[in-house]
Amino acid sequence: MRVISPSLLSADFKHIQKDIEIVETAGATRLHLDVMDGHFVPNLTFGPFIIHFIRQCTSCHLETHLMIDNPAASFDQYIKAGSDTIIFHIEASGNPLEELKYLKSNGVSAGIALNPDTDINKIVPLIDDVDYLLIMSVFPGKGGQSFIRSTLDKMRSAVTIRENRNITIGVDGGVNLSTINEVFATGIDVTIVGSGLFNSDDISTRFQELLNA
Ligand code: DX5
Ligand code: ZN
Repeated sequence: MRVISPSLLSADFKHIQKDIEIVETAGATRLHLDVMDGHFVPNLTFGPFIIHFIRQCTSCHLETHLMIDNPAASFDQYIKAGSDTIIFHIEASGNPLEELKYLKSNGVSAGIALNPDTDINKIVPLIDDVDYLLIMSVFPGKGGQSFIRSTLDKMRSAVTIRENRNITIGVDGGVNLSTINEVFATGIDVTIVGSGLFNSDDISTRFQELLNA
């Protein structure tokens, strides 16, 4: 069964509660929250203040994707805001192993993201401490970018490296009706979909189309 995690970055924040209800009613069990700090990536989005209110709108599993420098300094705020999984970038982390352990010991799933040009083998020393591995299929920073096809190999490598460990592998960026089949064919578990979902006039139907593509 495919798992699609809608990225609220492409939802309409004028009525975010309504868009959340639409995707939840359509069958979404996870939501993807893109936090950008204007430093690690040029754009600035939202932080724990907004996530706290999103938490009150939904019972979905909230995966918070931190595209921020020095992520560990903010972990406590994102835990308190109600995140179920916290994903930080290996490229931004001072001590990924310790940071993964800190998240787990504080009751959230520990996630790590890899940029398209980061070697997948960097995950090997961390593999027994990761709950969620996010393969970026675009360079982080904004929604609506084109899928980078060379990351398909990295997805297959991630599935191999995981072996039978209880790790969820997600793919983030440029996943839409044209690319979703190839992405799931690699054996990964979750696709993040932003513009490919929320740009539709009928979000609920699009969610089903993505599931059944
Ligand atoms: C990119 C973000 C993604 C983004 C995905 O920096 O991490 O989660 O919202 O958007 P789409 O699906 O439009 O590529
Ligand atoms: Zn993301």
